[in-house]
Amino acid sequence: MNLPMNQLQGKVVLVTGGARRIGRSISLALAAEGAKVAIHYRGSEAAARQTAEECGDAPVFQANLESVAEIRTMFHQVATHFGTLDGLVNNAARFTNFDPLTIEEADWDHIHSVNLKATFFCSQAAARIMLAGAGGHIVNISSLGGLRPWANHAHYCASKAGVIMLTKALAKAWAPHISVNSVAPGVIPFDKSDARIERLIKASPARRAGTGEEIAEAVLFFLKATRFTTGQLLAVDGGLSQL
Ligand SMILES: NC(=O)c1ccc[n+]([C@@H]2O[C@H](COP(=O)([O-])OP(=O)(O)OC[C@H]3O[C@@H](n4cnc5c(N)ncnc54)[C@H](OP(=O)(O)O)[C@@H]3O)[C@@H](O)[C@H]2O)c1
Repeated sequence: MNLPMNQLQGKVVLVTGGARRIGRSISLALAAEGAKVAIHYRGSEAAARQTAEECGDAPVFQANLESVAEIRTMFHQVATHFGTLDGLVNNAARFTNFDPLTIEEADWDHIHSVNLKATFFCSQAAARIMLAGAGGHIVNISSLGGLRPWANHAHYCASKAGVIMLTKALAKAWAPHISVNSVAPGVIPFDKSDARIERLIKASPARRAGTGEEIAEAVLFFLKATRFTTGQLLAVDGGLSQL
């Protein structure tokens, strides 16, 4: 039951938000190791199909993860398609910028319904499949923002700190059959830069931003580790969280 996934060859791994940006890097890295990747998307259908093609015609699954019903339908579809599930990467999330004095209930729910609630219910749906089979590995993408307080992202920071604690609690709940770990990215830009990003890069001991490939490398580390490695957080942030 505690065999490592050190060979990802043939293993079934679902990546939420796997079409674009960091999720795309994770999907491509998994496919390069021979994993059978299930690519989830919500709105980015064309990007999902492009990434899926580059992953060797991987299947794509559409769901709005704000809905627990849609999450459960998606996991049923994945399990039906592959007959099993070995790994889950909870990557889908939202990011918004708000003065805490102006946040309304809908703004709060907009973030927490995806970043924290969906991470929990995707993990639960995956665990039900994994515990009925040979066990598995879950990796939650948290954030530097779950470790460091950002004043205009208090709602986002709280959601990602929640992901980090959820990782530890679920690791305890589902050991020894499922490992649950977290990767906390630092600054991983894809669009044009802004003053906040430039400030963070300048403050970073690495003196540069990170890449999706570097986040994927950390995700694959946890997916390949034995389940003895569980409840852990790996910050991939150029040293920013150490300041
Ligand atoms: N980029 C960074 O600098 C950075 C830094 C720290 C942490 N992170 C974390 O790393 C992960 C990936 O970040 P990213 O910047 O690459 O991507 P992102 O733009 O934050 O979002 C990833 C994907 O989440 C999906 N998503 C959003 N709302 C959804 C919903 N309601 N239902 C289903 N899917 C939904 C979107 O899928 P569709 O496009 O298909 O709609 C989107 O492509 C996230 O967890 C993020 O918080 C990123």
